[in-house]
Amino acid sequence: MSKIDVLLGLQWGDEGKGKVVDVLAPRYDIIARFQGGPNAGHTLEFEGIKHVLHIIPSGICHRDKINVIGNGVLVEPVILRKEFAALESIGFEPRTNLYISRKAHLILPTHRLLDAANEASKAERKIGSTLKGIGPAYTDKVARVGVRVGDIARSDFKAVYEKAKESHLNLIRSLGYDVDAFRVEDKTLSEYERQWFEALDFLKGLKVIDSEYYLNEALDKGLKILAEGAQGSMLDIDFGSYPFVTSSNTITAGVCSGLGIAPSRVGKVFGICKAYCTRVGSGPFPTELFDADGEELRQKGREFGSTTGRPRRCGWLDIPALRYACMLNGVTHLMLMKIDVMNGFSRIKVCDSYEINGKRTMNVPYDMEESISPLYSDYDGWLQDVGGVGDYEALPQRMKDYIAMIEQKTGLPVALVSTSPDRKDTIIRTEL
Ligand code: IMP
Repeated sequence: MSKIDVLLGLQWGDEGKGKVVDVLAPRYDIIARFQGGPNAGHTLEFEGIKHVLHIIPSGICHRDKINVIGNGVLVEPVILRKEFAALESIGFEPRTNLYISRKAHLILPTHRLLDAANEASKAERKIGSTLKGIGPAYTDKVARVGVRVGDIARSDFKAVYEKAKESHLNLIRSLGYDVDAFRVEDKTLSEYERQWFEALDFLKGLKVIDSEYYLNEALDKGLKILAEGAQGSMLDIDFGSYPFVTSSNTITAGVCSGLGIAPSRVGKVFGICKAYCTRVGSGPFPTELFDADGEELRQKGREFGSTTGRPRRCGWLDIPALRYACMLNGVTHLMLMKIDVMNGFSRIKVCDSYEINGKRTMNVPYDMEESISPLYSDYDGWLQDVGGVGDYEALPQRMKDYIAMIEQKTGLPVALVSTSPDRKDTIIRTEL
């Protein structure tokens, strides 16, 4: 009997999870997404191809691997169909190796309108949502009025759809907005609905399964499964910087509810973090930089959202937040991304603790919006290009010192170091 390994982000998303899943996929039989939806943008780069995935798991470019969209994921049919087309255009056939849970919830066109109305109503307290309908679709799931992939087969599906739509339109009106004030992907509601129903027909032709049985039976048979997280631990609905979070459990616990896997069947937990921090959207970010260093991280790290294109906010590595995420997730191995982005820095800062109301603490406070002063240590940079270095020992000593510092402060091994976006520039240090 095997256990399921988990790979997830320890910061505010965009840690480079897609690349690592793609690198580790050959070691697994099945890759399964457990939460989130098209708010995610997981980027793969290989053989001169750059490809961004949103709902489909990042093992899809390995033809012999099964990819599963679990029950905890939200499926937006139009976006899913576009992902299929993009994969087909580069020679992949997701129809053959993608399974979708019957219990996954659907994002309706009006969820997306409602997302836009909710954000507009928040004025300067906007969450900075990706506007893919995530919050409203998960709200309906918890309110027990959601529409699931399995419902498409119902003879009364149209009535189910209309009922949900009407309630969303009423909510938009109750916020004081005219429904026509909002667009989905620049389309009016009726234009987008047409596209959505066409995509629903397409979805009907895909492999829709009871994924909880499929995955547990696969583990019984000894197959190896990797659960792929989306967003990051600091965006978790329970433990992130609430209310500036996404609407799902992005932490290891989400694997159990989002795939139907018992906690006793969870194996290794790979925590992905960048050598610095980024955040896209609003909300507290203690180590955020507003100077030339922040701009250098953004430009060198190509820190622009892969789903929305928005510039990401950039800052130094935040150890209290990282330790918090490691604790919540039960991380067994750290994986350090984008260390090469810091090649040009002569001095690098790392936040070791926070000062809040005159007191020093290592803990992430209940309210991250209160005034947090990050307390920093300074390190010498390595000032050396590391592109193409495949051997850990050959990395600059100061870079290895930086990595050792992260290990010492988190008490966890850094098992993988990524030195460029390309699949091939990945150093695996320990047997995983
Ligand atoms: P939502 O999940 O689209 O509602 O967005 C909620 C917050 O999470 C916003 O600040 C988004 O920018 C952020 N967010 C959602 N998905 C991602 C992601 O995949 N990477 C980084 N940030 C994300």
